[in-house]
Amino acid sequence: MNASSVTLGVISSGRGENLRYILQEERSGRLPAHVGIVLTDQPDAGALKIAKEFSVPGHFIDPTNLCREEYDQKLIAYLEAEGAELVILTGYMRILSPQFVRHYKDRILNIHPALLPSFRGMDAFAQALEYGVKWTGTTVHIVDEDVDHGPIVYQRPVIVLENDTHDRLKARIQRAEYKAYPRAIKMFIERRPEILGRKLVWQREEK
Ligand code: GAR
Repeated sequence: MNASSVTLGVISSGRGENLRYILQEERSGRLPAHVGIVLTDQPDAGALKIAKEFSVPGHFIDPTNLCREEYDQKLIAYLEAEGAELVILTGYMRILSPQFVRHYKDRILNIHPALLPSFRGMDAFAQALEYGVKWTGTTVHIVDEDVDHGPIVYQRPVIVLENDTHDRLKARIQRAEYKAYPRAIKMFIERRPEILGRKLVWQREEK
């Protein structure tokens, strides 16, 4: 990856708000990267509208009648055609095939709304409230073949307030995500970590 402007391929199933903040950082010149393509498995994903707003190519890839491997081969074909060097997952709800993970080994990032390894999987907000933790947060990690599991790039803590509701906690964590994801992407590109097992050894000072 050439740190001057890395091509990002974003895959999303959802609203795409993280994509919006990544694009805003890109357009402000603060990110050494540009979003080259946005892919989604949902025809009405907000991420497609945001891609259009920012004039980035966006595609709905229909998963109907395709097994996971076939679907992921399609994703790879789109990503390769656009020259994506780093894959960014934002609320992508399908599990990637081992083939996809191997193809982009150590070049896929995901954001999860909890301090991993706590509260992996669905509805991390409800899990945190149910468990009664005082702090939760958000984690950007490298994707490996397990769900919400790979080496951690960056974490940002978020307080759980007394009498917090699901919606209030979710909003607070998501606000933290909008800062965390662009920052983690920037660090990952500029500081070129060596990945040793679960640990990242940063090669350069933070700018
Ligand atoms: C984010 O909160 C992200 O952490 C979560 O989906 C949301 C996507 O929001 N991802 C997961 O739960 C993955 N395990 P967005 O579509 O508005 O960026």
